[in-house]
Amino acid sequence: MLAFHVDEERCVLCGECALDCPAGIIVMDGYPRITDQEACLQCQHCLAVCPGAGISILGRDPEESTLLAGNLPEPAQVATLIKGRRSVRRYRERDLAPELIDELLNVACHAPTGVNARSVLFTVVREGAVLRRLRDHLMARLGQLKEAGELPAGLAGRYLGRIVNAWRSEGRDMLFRGAPHLLITSAPSDTPCPVQDTHIALATFQLIAYANGVGTVWDGLFMMALAVCPEVMDRLGIPDNHTIGYAMAFGEPAVEYHRTVQRGPAQVNVVRW
Ligand SMILES: Cc1cc2nc3c(=O)[nH]c(=O)nc-3n(C[C@H](O)[C@H](O)[C@H](O)COP(=O)(O)O)c2cc1C
Repeated sequence: MLAFHVDEERCVLCGECALDCPAGIIVMDGYPRITDQEACLQCQHCLAVCPGAGISILGRDPEESTLLAGNLPEPAQVATLIKGRRSVRRYRERDLAPELIDELLNVACHAPTGVNARSVLFTVVREGAVLRRLRDHLMARLGQLKEAGELPAGLAGRYLGRIVNAWRSEGRDMLFRGAPHLLITSAPSDTPCPVQDTHIALATFQLIAYANGVGTVWDGLFMMALAVCPEVMDRLGIPDNHTIGYAMAFGEPAVEYHRTVQRGPAQVNVVRW
């Protein structure tokens, strides 16, 4: 089932795979051997930690992995990526190439998940025309709710009212900020950590998107709209047994930021014992 294979020509019997296995199910029995297939997390640490690319698992060829030595960015580059990322609220009308969207998602799906469940579903709007139709539907529906006095009370209602006003008076799209694409993460509610997994996946997507020149914005306003427009939820195709994480609009930015913002220092609470 796991297709755990040790290439005896390459294995140097270092035992790193056994030491690093989080489930503790690899033993050095001469060469490494898995003792309990059911307990395997399928995390591929054995494949990643083997110095000689001698372990294959789940049908994955270690030679297909990217070598880490010499290929990692400098810490300062990663820090600039994190500090330089902005919520983008101005987009070009052009759609992104579908291959680029796939590539970003295929990186984002490497984000950690509780117990390595890897069950996050990436629901994506790939065409700007589709998101514009969804936007038009939501604007009309929110407008009806507003007129009928049926928007929720409190903060959500105030924001949703502002979305309608901005759309009607200026044609300004506060819902998706004019982005052509939308990503919604969800995960089966019975996985160990659906809320955390879906948020981490989006945070990871956001960074790889930015590294590729793609702008993103966490879309809390769409989440508010979704809560009052159940017919939209029905049409997204997300399985009923899923917990929705969050939504993120994305696309080619029509704005360029020239420097990082300056935040911090971090609020730190040091534990003493
Ligand atoms: C959970 C969450 C929801 C958000 N919802 C929206 C939103 O609906 N619309 C929007 O324009 N920005 C939204 N933002 C973006 C924040 O306003 C933004 O992160 C903050 O102002 C800091 O700016 P920066 O992301 O450029 O650093 C959201 C951010 C988070 C984390």
